[in-house]
Amino acid sequence: MEKDQLLEQAYNLFENIPRESLGFFPTPLHRLNNISERYKAEVWIKRDDLTGPSIFGGNKTRKLEYLLGRAKQQGNDYVITYGATQSNHAMQTAIACRKVGLKAILYLVAVVPPGKGRPLGNLLLDRIMDAEVHIEPCPSGDAGEAMEKARSAAAVRMQELEKEGSSCYEIPTGGANDTGSLGYVRALMELREQIRQQPGLNGFDHVYQATGSGGTLAGLLAGKELLKEDYELVPVEVGLLKPGFKENVAALAGAALGLLGNKSVLEAESFMIEENFTGPGYEMPSVESSSALKELALAEGILVGPVYTAKAFAALLAHLQSGKIKKNSRVLFWHTGGASELFAEAQITGDDIIR
Ligand SMILES: Cc1ncc(COP(=O)(O)O)c(C=O)c1O
Repeated sequence: MEKDQLLEQAYNLFENIPRESLGFFPTPLHRLNNISERYKAEVWIKRDDLTGPSIFGGNKTRKLEYLLGRAKQQGNDYVITYGATQSNHAMQTAIACRKVGLKAILYLVAVVPPGKGRPLGNLLLDRIMDAEVHIEPCPSGDAGEAMEKARSAAAVRMQELEKEGSSCYEIPTGGANDTGSLGYVRALMELREQIRQQPGLNGFDHVYQATGSGGTLAGLLAGKELLKEDYELVPVEVGLLKPGFKENVAALAGAALGLLGNKSVLEAESFMIEENFTGPGYEMPSVESSSALKELALAEGILVGPVYTAKAFAALLAHLQSGKIKKNSRVLFWHTGGASELFAEAQITGDDIIR
């Protein structure tokens, strides 16, 4: 089937899916002229840092359109979700909830302990939004254990709210479920449309993207399957990889397709994860990620965040330098946001970016 026909068909599949309009779409797609010249390749960027609704956009806005669509359809009053204290997902949830009249409750694990003074970065934004914030300390450094405690506390809070007659919609960390992933199926449809409208741009050979919970990746894989796109997806891991991650992402992609009435099954072997740019760990910058953040800022005036997008861009630059990405290739960097991480604790941002 022709690509245009596949796109038409995909639009039809979304007809009955509940959605709340939160952002500004399509997000810009543009060429990185200086980076392209420097590396003799066609390097483009998809600006999901500009999704809105505030200037602190990012990939979660797309997921939240469908998640909050479901929450509103079911008549909930509250939304409860999880993340690190500097979670972009939690911050975007707090903002999105305000737009549609839901109350946000955030259970946050202090992977990097917030300082004693004023809250910083995303935590400050959560507070401006008057989200109900619960912080779970992580003294042993075991974020998994702290997250379990946070989940138990959240379950008690949900029961409490139910007793009061309120209902609560629970969103997993990163918004990573089938409903959330629909946002990135839709994003690939948007990209196809933009490629069609851009004279001289036939498509891409490689698409680079930062991966954490895997929800974005699952949506992109599902969208790729639906539209029969043939570019290589390069998901760059940022320090959250757990055993069984690929299998979970494949299952999530299948479940997202299932919501659209498509029965395709995705195999974990059908995609790769780039694991070489994690650096010292989650919320810890590496020499490469700090240098990539700085290079994009100085070459193009565009800011990525140290936790996610700097690591993905570091992978892209390293692959351009090593020749893994061939000269004249068409490469897309999918900017998923996170610049507000630049105002987080110094441990997260690192010192190399202001040297
Ligand atoms: C800025 C940014 N980029 C990428 C990701 C990764 O997205 P996902 O959790 O869907 O894998 C996140 C997740 O929090 C993020 O905040």
